[in-house]
Amino acid sequence: MYARIIGTGSYLPERVVHNADLAKIMDTSDEWIRERTGIERRHYAAEGQTTVDLAEQAARRAIAAAGLNPGDIDLIVFGTTTPDLVFPNAGAMLQARLGCTGGPAFSVEAACSSFIYALSVAEKFVRLGEAKRALVVGAETLTRITDFTDRTTAVLFADGAGAVVLAPSEEPGIISTHLHADGSYQHLLYCTGGISKGYEPGTGNRAVIRMAGRETFKVAVTMLGNSVEEALAKNKLAKSAVNWLVPHQANIRIIQAVAKKLDMPMERVILTVQEHGNTSAASVPLALDTGVRDGRIKQGDLVLLEAFGGGFTWGSALVRM
Ligand code: COA
Repeated sequence: MYARIIGTGSYLPERVVHNADLAKIMDTSDEWIRERTGIERRHYAAEGQTTVDLAEQAARRAIAAAGLNPGDIDLIVFGTTTPDLVFPNAGAMLQARLGCTGGPAFSVEAACSSFIYALSVAEKFVRLGEAKRALVVGAETLTRITDFTDRTTAVLFADGAGAVVLAPSEEPGIISTHLHADGSYQHLLYCTGGISKGYEPGTGNRAVIRMAGRETFKVAVTMLGNSVEEALAKNKLAKSAVNWLVPHQANIRIIQAVAKKLDMPMERVILTVQEHGNTSAASVPLALDTGVRDGRIKQGDLVLLEAFGGGFTWGSALVRM
């Protein structure tokens, strides 16, 4: 038995912020941001619009694409780093919105890798027969933990949501997932505030993202390269077997480096970083839904998903659509 993706959906908040808008409030330029990251614009949640608000829209679209009703969902695994509250968990809050109460609903927190982690957890429930219609979400309001006085990170992060629905299938499906973490790198990319630890001095009692960009970049390229090779080796597949690479959308240069390792032309990479920025847990399901809805990713295609984030955490998933 396998778990198969039977529907995808995504949602971006209405407000679009261009590089030129950021250049008005900090010492940066459209040229620098495009050259170093590939980002041209991104979406920001409205005041009061929360991660679960974004997730609900994406979830309803994924459920509709699967030909189901919200009441059919019997498991929710919600990947996020920016939940609405400490508790109830974002999955439980989403479950109430969708009106599919009763089954398990929980969140998985692994920074930008949260969706890959959530997918890996949910597919095991489905494969083992413990869930029949699982909703897997990646959603963030990263602008709530963005330090707009720090140009090295403020230009990168944004808001959005993506979701998929999984169902049991005798054919693959999610072929394999490969999760990793190395907590000894936590000082290179982290958030300065938390409930138990409190706030870092000098942050004005705000929880904000801190990142050593250059160091993070190097580790990301190495680990993502290893992770996609691991997925192929585990399944004895040649690089050429993969139809689409759906990468975490942090930086176009990281994506190009991983594509090169796979001998994959950029025409077979789903790229949304230019329009979405880095939406953390939402970036992979947003890119997947983009590729599915514009008709590039078709049923039967072999798709390789990968992500890297704070922790460090990283992973990949090989999926037959
Ligand atoms: N606008 C203009 N200049 C900027 C800038 C900005 N927004 N941010 C940094 N700079 C400057 C720096 O101050 C530095 O100036 P200096 O040479 O005078 O010191 C110069 O640009 C180069 O900075 P550097 O940090 O070396 O740039 P980079 O090429 O490494 O690009 C990142 C920076 C953040 C885009 C890149 O390191 C990156 O993408 N890192 C990984 C990000 C990532 O994947 N994170 C999340 C994982 S989920």
